[in-house]
Amino acid sequence: MSRLDQGYLREMYVDPSRVDEPNAYPFDIPVIRKLGRLVLHPRMTFFVGENGTGKSTLIEAIAINAGFNPEGGDKNLRFSVRGTESPLHGALRLSRGARREQDGFFLRAESFYNVASALDDAGASRYGPRSLHAMSHGEAFLALVEHRFQPNSLYILDEPESALSPQRQFVLLAHMHRLAEHGRCQFVVATHSPILLGYPEGTIYELGDDGPHAVRYEDTAHVQLTRSFLQDRERFLSRLLGDSE
Ligand SMILES: Nc1ncnc2c1ncn2[C@@H]1O[C@H](COP(=O)(O)OP(=O)(O)O)[C@@H](O)[C@H]1O
Ligand SMILES: [Mg+2]
Repeated sequence: MSRLDQGYLREMYVDPSRVDEPNAYPFDIPVIRKLGRLVLHPRMTFFVGENGTGKSTLIEAIAINAGFNPEGGDKNLRFSVRGTESPLHGALRLSRGARREQDGFFLRAESFYNVASALDDAGASRYGPRSLHAMSHGEAFLALVEHRFQPNSLYILDEPESALSPQRQFVLLAHMHRLAEHGRCQFVVATHSPILLGYPEGTIYELGDDGPHAVRYEDTAHVQLTRSFLQDRERFLSRLLGDSE
């Protein structure tokens, strides 16, 4: 791989000498404890795992280290709502590639509303014709991707599928492909979506109690569970709900 094909973020690791309280949150989370060194794919890295495994904690620390506001948004957006970021970012180390991103965006799972307000205040014209608040959550997020996301940028997204119908998730996937393949963007994404995970190239890290592991799409619990439900819904439901067949 030539130096120019490297991602903006290449690797990350936790520096144990910078962990003040190893038995306190977030270092008490198994995944964070066993993080070790993770290579980030130059285009698309996914984190999957059960609720509570530490995806948001990890994504937030990566974003802060990469220069984003902990509350989300782009690198210029400065507003504070809570100030409750975990201390992981202080111990996390990122190795950067040869090129610097020109722009980027950090989408938190739960704070799009606040980001939309701050972006509106900063001037809505760059984000499409209408105020982000005059659209549904899903429409607003896709407007942001269409109008604001641009080439040569770094995107750190926590559950970007959360407001999107399956159809719109395919639209998002197409935008991500356009930006990553033709715009040399890098994405780091926490997701539960079997649709987004289906991106044709990239690395999927599944987070579990034994740490993060790179897995194939077909082997993720999300895909296997969804597939088994869709393949034989009646059987799945009768087992889940305990009805006699
Ligand atoms: N501020 C906090 N203080 C203590 N524990 C927390 C805090 N925030 C999250 N946690 C715990 O850390 C774990 C990982 O949370 P999180 O990273 O949000 O998981 P995920 O995004 O994978 O669902 C969870 O068990 C959660 O309850
Ligand atoms: Mg989360």
